[in-house]
Amino acid sequence: MCLLRINMAAPSSRSGLLWTLLSRCRTPGPGRTGTGPGRCLSSLPPPPLPPPGTWSSELSRLPHRDLYRLSVTDPDRFWGSAAADRLCWVEPYQQVRDCELSSGRISWFLGGKLNVSVNCLDVHVEKHPDRVALIWERDEPGTEVKVTYRELLETTCRLANTLKSHGVHKGDTVAIYMPVSPIAVAAMLACARIGAVHTVVFAGFSSEALAGRIQDAQCKAVLTCNQGVRGGRLMDLKSTVDAAVKSCPSVQHVFVSQRTDSPTAMGALDVPLEEVMSSQPAICPAEPLDSEDILFLLYTSGSTGKPKGIVHTQAGYLLYASMTHQLVFDHRDGDVFGCMADIGWITGHSYVVYGPLSNGATSVLFESTPVYPNPGRYWETVQRLRISQFYGAPTALRLLLKYDDSWVKKFDRSSLRTLGSVGEPINHEAWHWFHSVVGEGRCPLVDTWWQTETGGVCIAPRPAEKGAPILPAMAMRPFFGIQPVLMDDKGEPISGVSVGGALCISQPWPGMARSIYGDHQRFVDAYFKPYPGFYFSGDGAYRSEDGYYQITGRMDDVINVSGHRLGTAEIEDALDEHPAVPETAVIGIQHDIKGEVPFAFVVLKDGLHDDPLVILQQLRDLVAAKIAKYAVPEHFLVVKRLPKTRSGKIMRRILRKVAMETTGDLGDVSTLDDPSVVKEIVEAHEQYRKQREEEEEKKK
Ligand code: WT7
Repeated sequence: MCLLRINMAAPSSRSGLLWTLLSRCRTPGPGRTGTGPGRCLSSLPPPPLPPPGTWSSELSRLPHRDLYRLSVTDPDRFWGSAAADRLCWVEPYQQVRDCELSSGRISWFLGGKLNVSVNCLDVHVEKHPDRVALIWERDEPGTEVKVTYRELLETTCRLANTLKSHGVHKGDTVAIYMPVSPIAVAAMLACARIGAVHTVVFAGFSSEALAGRIQDAQCKAVLTCNQGVRGGRLMDLKSTVDAAVKSCPSVQHVFVSQRTDSPTAMGALDVPLEEVMSSQPAICPAEPLDSEDILFLLYTSGSTGKPKGIVHTQAGYLLYASMTHQLVFDHRDGDVFGCMADIGWITGHSYVVYGPLSNGATSVLFESTPVYPNPGRYWETVQRLRISQFYGAPTALRLLLKYDDSWVKKFDRSSLRTLGSVGEPINHEAWHWFHSVVGEGRCPLVDTWWQTETGGVCIAPRPAEKGAPILPAMAMRPFFGIQPVLMDDKGEPISGVSVGGALCISQPWPGMARSIYGDHQRFVDAYFKPYPGFYFSGDGAYRSEDGYYQITGRMDDVINVSGHRLGTAEIEDALDEHPAVPETAVIGIQHDIKGEVPFAFVVLKDGLHDDPLVILQQLRDLVAAKIAKYAVPEHFLVVKRLPKTRSGKIMRRILRKVAMETTGDLGDVSTLDDPSVVKEIVEAHEQYRKQREEEEEKKK
């Protein structure tokens, strides 16, 4: 166990597999006493714990398979050892876990105190202050900015002091509405440093969506930029925040960072971030936090209209993000880790910020798009920054593989060692293109399955026994401590192979969500009630002949548009606000690049005089204003009524078949209130399809 300010000699023998797998202990250098940024932690007594590596060396002879078995049969020993060895604690934990899944009680490393920002910054500054922590790959190629660990710590401290001097303290919530950038990362870490809870809101969400999240989390402050820059275009972020905070009385300050030179009108709440930060000290004591204090909230879609604030806490989340980052991607010292995600999503939290920084990695912050200024952008960036791990989304790969391979091949990709895919199922074509064209067949490609709720990767091909195969387009193997279970319709576990069912996890793991902010009952109902005693993911999966897992997709009314999760109920709620629309039903249909797109069936009021085309445009605008542009349905079909059962439930299965043009087999329609509705909708769709074809023709 590593404790800042406590000078412990490194154990003499730390070789062996378990050590390599579990240990990343960063003891401070010899002779280091109460100076420097971590000074606040110096007065604490040494812990009554065994020296680091004790358990590790005992277990070091285990082959991978036995290690996995141990992680599920003796999680206390496995995770306890990992937490002691890898994290830097202010006070050691007393108990590894206290969990009861059926009631949603999940606690890890009880009694321990630590600070996540110390684990991501100070421990590295002690050892290699000038190592690059972040490479900000800005929108214009060739204008990247490098930030060392020392610089990031200083910026984080100045920002933390700024927050404190404006009344933000431990336990307060802070919204971050910023695109991926060093200042946004510093904002997350500054919150972590003082014990404030951050909630990053993707900077593509509308002002109403932002306001809803700020209200739910009762944020005291918002951090934003004047503008965002992406794909050569500017986005006004400050004006979106201005509109949002009008309905958010909890907000006392809006901190505005200047991403561009464009001047910003500053109102009564606004604080110019860089200006105020520059006069703050570059040292800020780190608040010792309880393992189970909240680190962040991240809002995500569920099957109701209201997004849920997923709660992640300190130690367990950090440990899990850190271990999965190292082991799934085979991260090694000196690597440049390139995760293309935005910090507004969980992937950005775990694999742009917390995982890589806790491991002392160099992490890339990608501000641009895969096609700006041309479809070679990713690979030109790989060449210029010497990226070792490239972690991206299938939707981007599907877009890129449509262009000539020369866009890939003209750039040197020899720095690449591991390729990763996340966010949605990766189809075979995209997998093979990524593996053989981008990776030249020499880089392991890991399809990683996980969720906002799981904190980090749960199923992925690596780690595995040396030389173990990776099969295309499959997440394959559970990570340490993860025990997947497939359930049948009756809620019984399905044994054997070549079977499919509802994907559950039978044991708690340190990275899992702890609650839904302000609504623990919803947390229990959504994840632990469907299969009592198990965590239910909402996804379906298939266990292959070889016992590997393949994700088959969502089982609820959640769809996945370009890797972004959306509840169809959220879109319906937005559409239903239109006075001319008494009823709607939204489903997801397949799209060759975006994966899925929303398809809206709308019923219009009788006797309307307005042009339906005008109403449809108003509906598009409504969704963009209430949620975000990416949520706007690709298709609208006006129908007279929706297919309903006698109890009034909309039969979405039928709508899906109509939209996918697979009405040959409609299944059982006997429970429909009036089966003639099907013919009506099929005809309306047929007309819509013809119309679209004609429009396409005209465009050509
Ligand atoms: C949902 C979670 C994981 C971080 C980004 C998305 C789908 C995610 C995969 C994959 C098939 C996947 C699932 C999951 N998903 N990764 N490798 N293969 N499906 O996080 O927004 O919480 O969405 O994304 O349906 O439930 P999220």
